[in-house]
Amino acid sequence: MLEQLESLYQQALTNLQAAPDTAALEDWYRDTLGRKGQVQLLSRQVGQLEPAQRPAFGQRINSVKNELEAAYQQRAAALKMAELEARLAAEQLDVTLPGRQQFHGRLHPASQTLRQIYRIWGDMGFQIYRSRDVETDEYNFELLNIPQHHPARDMWDTFHTTAPGIILRTHTSPGQIHAMKEYFPEPIRVILPGMCYRYEQITARSEIQFHQVEGLAVGKNINMTHLKGTLTDFARRMFGAERKVRFRANYFPFTEPSAEMDVECFLCEGSGCHLCKQTGWLEILGCGMVHPTVLRNGGYDPAVYAGFAFGMGPERIAMLKYGIEDIRYFWSNDLRFLEQF
Ligand code: DAH
Repeated sequence: MLEQLESLYQQALTNLQAAPDTAALEDWYRDTLGRKGQVQLLSRQVGQLEPAQRPAFGQRINSVKNELEAAYQQRAAALKMAELEARLAAEQLDVTLPGRQQFHGRLHPASQTLRQIYRIWGDMGFQIYRSRDVETDEYNFELLNIPQHHPARDMWDTFHTTAPGIILRTHTSPGQIHAMKEYFPEPIRVILPGMCYRYEQITARSEIQFHQVEGLAVGKNINMTHLKGTLTDFARRMFGAERKVRFRANYFPFTEPSAEMDVECFLCEGSGCHLCKQTGWLEILGCGMVHPTVLRNGGYDPAVYAGFAFGMGPERIAMLKYGIEDIRYFWSNDLRFLEQF
């Protein structure tokens, strides 16, 4: 009978390992260790043994029960794991698993600044006018009253292409001519945003590519007062209602008179610090009344029409606003920088 027990034990172990799923496992348990299972049936036959043989048989049958019970637990755990894995592979979706964290993207700081600028000018009735990045020498310079060999060309170091007269725009101002030619004789209120390119040494303060936002208003009876009022309002909306501004006379070939607008330094509020180089003011943009030659080149008779224009650099504005010390951060794709905005 002991032999019978041993062979039952071996067979049970073999069957256990062969059980393909938890359902088969439950059958195995019922047939082997259950109340009417084989081990139980065998243990009832203990009375058929010689009394001397009974204790050894009893001991062995108990240890067989324990070992089979332990083997069953192990197999059950393994089968459960395997079934979970199979389900994960087959169903792809396990709603009981914790989700993976989603990382939200965000707008580049230059785009954020651009959108702020768009919103303010949009509120004032200025539409966005898109103009090309690849320009002709004619539009980038000549029609803006900067003839060949004029010393003012030194203000814009230029990328030339292998095609004669085709260049990358050094500023957004050529868009003024495109807009005027398209809109004439309607009045114009547009901003012209876009990337500009200059053949410069890259340093903390100068990049070979950067955005500009140009502005242009053309109509009858437009004068310097409109320019100053509009730009002052822009500065208040962009930098805060209390922010003071000032205009300084300057020179640009495409405007007459020309000026630069400064805002009171954000950092020291005008008392003088390293950001404003002890002047209390930060230069924000160039502007002026559109030069009669430029109006004429756009198709507008300067005896009838007048206009004002301006140009600003959003990266420069963002640098001043957020205390960014190096313009190269904008295009170096460093998440440590980008994630701060
Ligand atoms: N185009 C000039 C530059 O890149 C900026 C500028 C100055 C634009 C005065 C204007 C303006 O429209 O009126 O330096």
